[in-house]
Amino acid sequence: MRLENKVVLVTGGNRGIGAAIVSLLEEFGTQVAYTYRSHPNSESNALAISADVTDSAAMAEVADKVEHKLGSIYGVVANAGITRDNFFPKLTTDDWNTVIETNLKGIYNTLKPIVPKMYERREGSVVCISSISGERGNIGQTNYAASKAGVIGLTKSLALEAARYGVRVNAVAPGFIETDMTKAIPDKVKEKITAEIPLRRFGKPNEIAWAVVFLLSPIASSYVAGTVLKVNGAYHT
Ligand SMILES: NC(=O)c1ccc[n+]([C@@H]2O[C@H](COP(=O)([O-])OP(=O)(O)OC[C@H]3O[C@@H](n4cnc5c(N)ncnc54)[C@H](O)[C@@H]3O)[C@@H](O)[C@H]2O)c1
Repeated sequence: MRLENKVVLVTGGNRGIGAAIVSLLEEFGTQVAYTYRSHPNSESNALAISADVTDSAAMAEVADKVEHKLGSIYGVVANAGITRDNFFPKLTTDDWNTVIETNLKGIYNTLKPIVPKMYERREGSVVCISSISGERGNIGQTNYAASKAGVIGLTKSLALEAARYGVRVNAVAPGFIETDMTKAIPDKVKEKITAEIPLRRFGKPNEIAWAVVFLLSPIASSYVAGTVLKVNGAYHT
């Protein structure tokens, strides 16, 4: 994959999909740093930094810290995200704002201090984690789907700007993946969703990590830019 000794930052890397990405990158010999909010992942040796993606000053400090401790950042995986699901009439303004602030503005805050430096070095790969909900919509997720559709718009626009500097920007749109985020879905709803997924199961965090590693790799995906890679068991084609 030619990712050995390259420096990659993963936001929200302490658990779920983020932790799987950190772990797989470590297997490829990548110098990984990740952010966490509540507690670091005790099973990982990667550089763990406590930071909230909604805090732009904190995210600028994260970029500085990673460059200081590990070297120039080659790759960023903008993974941190949350849900605050509810039917539209019951959705509060706080639910709306928090999800947009975290899932969309959080990616802006993450990339803002890093991407200009990638341009200067004429090298880099950015992977944003969107969602099937941002592609097709989902009941109870007007806020989340809007944020994740926004991530796709950001990804495609930044890819167009960044390409001339040799920087690739892509997104992964996971379907339903077994993490804390989907634990709250009631069993009956889970069964219904599973029956509609052609592969007849939820995905595993590691299956998203492989897609991310592919998009980060300067050899495996060297001509892939501005794309949204669906990893959803054919739920949405
Ligand atoms: N699990 C799924 O089915 C699924 C499907 C599609 C997309 N996604 C997306 O994948 C990404 C990872 O989700 P997951 O399933 O691993 O969920 P998760 O809840 O297990 O992990 C989310 C991570 O984001 C971090 N995070 C949340 N808010 C943050 C903030 N303000 N600042 C810093 N970090 C913050 C958390 O600390 C955690 O590390 C998210 O962007 C999510 O929207 C998940």
